[in-house]
Amino acid sequence: MGKNILLIGFMGVGKGALAREIVRCDGSLYALDTDDMIESMTNTRIKKIFATAGEEAFRALEQKTAQWLAGNVSNAVISTGGGFYKVKNIKDIGTVVYLKADFDWIVQRILNAPNAKKKLKKRPLFQDIERARSLFESRYEEYERVADIVVDVMHKEREELAKELLGEVGCRS
Ligand code: S3P
Repeated sequence: MGKNILLIGFMGVGKGALAREIVRCDGSLYALDTDDMIESMTNTRIKKIFATAGEEAFRALEQKTAQWLAGNVSNAVISTGGGFYKVKNIKDIGTVVYLKADFDWIVQRILNAPNAKKKLKKRPLFQDIERARSLFESRYEEYERVADIVVDVMHKEREELAKELLGEVGCRS
């Protein structure tokens, strides 16, 4: 199977937007998003899954999604939820790319978005900024450890990043 590109990183760093940009650059790839897949599979919003079934149940759904992706999907750029990097078989899915940014940059990116309120509301783990900061601090080294490629998203345009990644992971153009 052709390799996938898997985008990991903290909430709000721009994984979905970069996935869409990559697919715009290379029409032979498909964009998928693990949160969207989980919402379709369960017919339930992420926020509601957290509120009713709890975080552990959500993590199990992420693992189930990872299993399916590894066995069935190729030629895709897959944006993931901020905690997806914890799935056991991540390397079986594709080349893991960590979108790296500082926490304060991420907060500004979310707050400057035209739909900032909506972006925050749908993220149960971003309800309290200091808690989100601690979560970020507990994770950033792990993201780097899991990744095959680390890209700094703070100092480059999305289009440039997309082109770089397409070159680096050897996708068709
Ligand atoms: C989470 C990130 C969210 C979503 C869920 C949990 C996390 O996705 O999967 O709310 O643990 O960081 P985004 O990274 O797209 O916000």
